Amino acid sequence: MVHVLSVVGARPQFIKAFAVSRALGAEHSECLVHTGQHYDHNLSAVFFKELGLPEPDYHLGVGSGSHGEQTARIMDAFEPVLEREHPDVVIVYGDTNSTLGAAIVTAKSESLLAHVEAGLRSHNREMPEEHNRVLTDHASDILLAPTEEAVSNLEKEDLGDRTHLTGDVMLDTLLWARDRAHEATDILTRLGLEEQAYLLLTLHRAANTDQPDRLRTILDTMLQRPERVVFPAHPRTRDAMQRLGLIEEVEQHLTLLEPLSYLEFIHLLDRASRVITDSGGVQKEAFLLDTPCITVRGETEWPETVTAGWNRLTDADSDRINQAIDHSFDLALATKPQPFGDGTAAISIVDIIHDAVSWQIDSIKHR
Ligand code: UD1
Ligand code: UDP
Repeated sequence: MVHVLSVVGARPQFIKAFAVSRALGAEHSECLVHTGQHYDHNLSAVFFKELGLPEPDYHLGVGSGSHGEQTARIMDAFEPVLEREHPDVVIVYGDTNSTLGAAIVTAKSESLLAHVEAGLRSHNREMPEEHNRVLTDHASDILLAPTEEAVSNLEKEDLGDRTHLTGDVMLDTLLWARDRAHEATDILTRLGLEEQAYLLLTLHRAANTDQPDRLRTILDTMLQRPERVVFPAHPRTRDAMQRLGLIEEVEQHLTLLEPLSYLEFIHLLDRASRVITDSGGVQKEAFLLDTPCITVRGETEWPETVTAGWNRLTDADSDRINQAIDHSFDLALATKPQPFGDGTAAISIVDIIHDAVSWQIDSIKHR
């Protein structure tokens, strides 16, 4: 039996950790730590409820703050938990401040550090997440890469000997969720939406919410669209729209919603004609659900979705966004590549961690 400590804190991490928790099953023991980076009901508790995740064993309650403050609070609160639990392995997910805070503390402990979703790179050093990814990868003992592209990124940084190709855990969760999402929610009826007749919009990246020109351009473009636009807004985006005096117009012309539960969101994403987003996870889910995606960024960590023709990068450029929405994505499903694996990433991850703990802990930790 392996004693695992999993650290989560932000919306996409609950979704990723769900798959790994399930694969750990009763054979291994898991201690779940919630940093408290996300705390609103719709960004946190709703996922625990819907996915049936157990209550966290520890809730660090760090809340919001500047990058330094938040990361430092996570480190400060996490260290005593790690000392007390003394797990074989700490698993961190993705690229948030919760990922990095827990990674730094673990790297200097006796526990192994495993990074799920290792090796993603935007090559944009203005993104806080890019620093979180690179630093976490270099601190980790076990790098669990979702795609060949991620493996190749890690090899270029001389991290190949710690790297394992696993597939993507978000696909595992999505396969669990897809049918349930269609059965569990009547959100289309409630909102009076018709399948394939609306656009879905999500925005939360600092580069878009904290740069007024970019946010205005994206929202103005969406306000001019003839289709219904459904916009479940992240709180930081709602705050930014309020600050810029855009909220009334958006409320009037778009279907502005609170962030949705996972099952509601997946249902809406599957039935949308297009999704316009700056999210990492949503680009990938759109690809997996065959929903054409327009990414309002200059680059992506998921280039496979672009190469395959399902995702168009438009940056915050009105003409490019409109052209991409109007583009006919007549893509052949039969030849669609499957870069994210077959939905068994979490099982591979548990096997890799089990082997590492059983056979290699000394050699891995001290190399
Ligand atoms: C964080 C991650 C980002 C990830 C996203 C997932 C970092 C640096 N960023 O971004 O990589 O894609 O989560 O959604 O870790 N807020 C609330 N309620 C909450 C949480 C946040 O109102 O429950 C507001 C606060 O004003 C806060 C702001 O949102 O300052 C930003 O939250 P934060 O967790 O710092 O970053 P996200 O934008 O959520
Ligand atoms: N998501 C959700 N409700 C929403 C918007 C997104 O459940 O209203 C889910 C989405 O299905 C995906 C994840 O949240 O699994 C993506 O999280 P986010 O966009 O916040 O972060 P990122 O993936 O960019 O780090």
